[in-house]
Amino acid sequence: MNSMINGKSIIIFGPPGAGKGTQSGLISTMTGKPQVSTGDMLRDAVADDSDVGREAKSYMDKGLLVPDEIILQLIKIRLSRDDAKSGLLFDGFPRTIPQAIALETLTDVSMVISLVVEDDEIVSRITGRRTDPETGEIYHLEYKPAPQHIRDRLLQRDDDTEDTVRNRLSTFHKQTAPLSDFYRDKGILFEVNGSGEIKQVSSSIEAIIEAKTGD
Ligand code: AP5
Repeated sequence: MNSMINGKSIIIFGPPGAGKGTQSGLISTMTGKPQVSTGDMLRDAVADDSDVGREAKSYMDKGLLVPDEIILQLIKIRLSRDDAKSGLLFDGFPRTIPQAIALETLTDVSMVISLVVEDDEIVSRITGRRTDPETGEIYHLEYKPAPQHIRDRLLQRDDDTEDTVRNRLSTFHKQTAPLSDFYRDKGILFEVNGSGEIKQVSSSIEAIIEAKTGD
């Protein structure tokens, strides 16, 4: 791994349902950086019924962002672990300009891979999403059907209803989309058309990472 990527973090960026979680495994495997999803961390806190989880749920259920202080507290703890020394793959973080500015004081970011997908496609992706609680694998009723023998155990996320998805999209456009310009200005934003088939999107991401590691 070269100095462009070595020891630095990577961000996978995009609207809800853009495919960030789906593509994270590939990026993690290619770069050796552990995936850190703030959404998964918050859902774990909700499942534990902790104070943080209860507060976070009140925002998540409405499609709103959880306050920056809570998110940054989780990120600081995660970055203090040994395996963060080679950099992390952030999925769903940062989501506000203050989060991005705070991250600059915590780790170097080498690249931001931004998945671009239109809103109409997002709604059908999210309402059809199902997750395997045993493996964490993400499926879709139509675009990535799960094997027949595990279909009974698949779960739908509480915030994956059509109304909440529309709120999440509106939150994205207001508070998170401006981060594209923030990272474009730094020359580290790499946009990928996220609306092709899963394998096509993976190939585009692979090409970007290969080019970057060859720098
Ligand atoms: P989070 O869990 O991060 O949700 P999100 O950003 O809304 O993203 P998703 O997980 O919904 O989508 P994804 O891009 O990972 O898509 P996926 O790969 O699953 O956050 C949830 C909530 O937590 C937020 O609303 C907020 O309240 C809070 N939160 C989290 N982080 C925060 C932060 N930093 N600050 C403040 N609050 C925060 O794919 C979706 C579906 O599409 C799947 O079914 C998949 O199979 C399918 N699919 C994927 N790619 C394709 C393709 N190319 N073609 C067809 N189908 C596809």
